[in-house]
Formats: sequence, structure tokens, C-alpha cells
Amino acid sequence: MPYVTEENLTDIVAERWKNIPDPRLLQIMTAAIRHLHAFVREVEPTEAVWFTAIDWLTRTGKVCTDKRQEFILASDVFGVSMLVDAINHRLASGATPTTVEGPFHVANAPELADGGNMAQDAPGVPCFVTGKVRGLDGRPIGGAVLDLWQTDGEGFYEAQCDNIEGTWMRGLYYSQPDGSFVVRTVAPIAYTIPMDGTVGELMERTNISHMRPAHIHFCVTAPGYSRLVTHLFQQGDDFIETDVVYGVKEPLIVAFQTREAGTKAPNGETVGEPFYVINYDFVLEQAAATAVAAE
Ligand code: BEZ
Ligand code: FE
Repeated sequence: MPYVTEENLTDIVAERWKNIPDPRLLQIMTAAIRHLHAFVREVEPTEAVWFTAIDWLTRTGKVCTDKRQEFILASDVFGVSMLVDAINHRLASGATPTTVEGPFHVANAPELADGGNMAQDAPGVPCFVTGKVRGLDGRPIGGAVLDLWQTDGEGFYEAQCDNIEGTWMRGLYYSQPDGSFVVRTVAPIAYTIPMDGTVGELMERTNISHMRPAHIHFCVTAPGYSRLVTHLFQQGDDFIETDVVYGVKEPLIVAFQTREAGTKAPNGETVGEPFYVINYDFVLEQAAATAVAAE
């Protein structure tokens, strides 16, 4: 074997790392080594700079807890989460597009009746989300589960609120036999990603906006259809074009239509203050037709 030089080192390492019986792991590690070496050859870090990178990764791991995942946040702001999402959800045209799940989903949201309020006591402008769940063929899907989570009108998720008893700003709804649903909530507002960790430390050294435009998260599931994880974004939000995690897709931008105080809402109640109505149909693709990256 030749002794290593700057020129031959990448080839020698790649050759050594061919000793992997699992073909997929072999493919992954071969690409990882080639790209990592190419990165180092391009950047030519000093040893101090390389240690700074290792220290950043070490501290990123230490920020993680069972409630906080700083590596996922890093993947989000580097656009990698949306790239993985795109590769794994190559949907037919007409299907509602997917977007990142983000770190704030909490399982086992409370079940609410059609038209029920998932924002009891939360600050914000009342907001009704109405629409239908249907298949690509237009057929309504009854009994679909809509799992929603969002910030309140001051920009906070349940995980960020101290002193909350019970749940906050999340709920499970079922579509009616005609596919329709009505949700009562409050309008979300734009918010910053968590900036008190290593990702925030890095973002502070850039001129990149750390804001997400106002949005409501949805996970829509129905037997025989692909699970849809997506958001609806407020049309006209200042951060629509600069979402820090690249989650915005044009078909997911919706009008928050204003209604005057004293007007009847989609769930039949008369609301004593101005409120919003959003109308959106979720179009699900049948499970068998989904192009899932081979694994
Ligand atoms: C969110 O929308 O909840 C989110 C997504 C990615 C990073 C941070 C927050
Ligand atoms: Fe969010």
C-alpha cells in the first residue's frame, strides 16, 4: 500500500471504506467520504477552524433533550429537511403538497367535534378553517383525521408556554361523510425559530431572517391514502418569501378572509368580534401511488 499524501488520501480512504457488505450503507459512506474530503479540500481549514466545527457539533448535541432537537433545526435551516421531504413525497399534480413537520408536534391531541374550538382561552383573532378532504379523483373522504397544531396569537406553541395545564393550540378533528370539516382556532402569527442554541449562534453571524411566516400545521390521514404533513400559510405575510426553513409552497398560501363582528361563522355561531375564515381542500394521494424513495 502506498503511504498517504495529500493527493492520494481520498482514494485510499474510499478504497478502505469499500469493505461494507450492506450495499446501501456502502453507497452512503462512499458518497459521504467523497463529499467530506472535497469540502475540506475546498475550504482548507486550519486545525483551529476544524476544531471550531467539531466543537459546534458537540455543543449542538448537548443542546438536544427529549423536547428539543437542535440537529433537526440545523437540517431545517440548511434546507436539507425540505430536500428530504421533496425526495420522499413526489406527489401527483393536484395533490396537496407536503412541507416540514417541524419540532412542535405533540402526539395525542384532544379530539374535538366538528366546529369545535382548539384555542380555548388563547390570545388571538378568532379564525375558522373550513374545507373538504378529498382524493385526487375528487371523491370526498369521510372519517379522515386532521391533526392540527400552531402558535397562539402571540407566537407560542404549547412546548414554549410555561404554566399551561392541559393542551394548548392543538386538536384532532374528523372529516364528515361529505369530506367537510370546520375548525375554530385563533390566527397564528409569524415567529422566530429558537435562537438560544447553536443554530441561533450561527444564524446571528449571517444576515438571514430567522422568521417563519404565520402558518397552521396539519397532519391529515385516512385509510388507503398517503399521510399528508403540511402547513397553510397566511397570504401577505412579510416572511412568505424568506421562510427560514424553506417550507413555503405556492399552493399552501391561503387568504385569511376577514369577517365583521356579529357575522355568522362557518360553525353556525355568531362571533362578537372581527374574525378570519380560511377555506382549503386537502387533496390526498392514494397510498399505493406514492413514490417513496427505495430504502
Ligand atoms: C415549525 O414550523 O414549527 C418549525 C419548523 C422548523 C423549524 C422550527 C419550527
Ligand atoms: Fe410552526
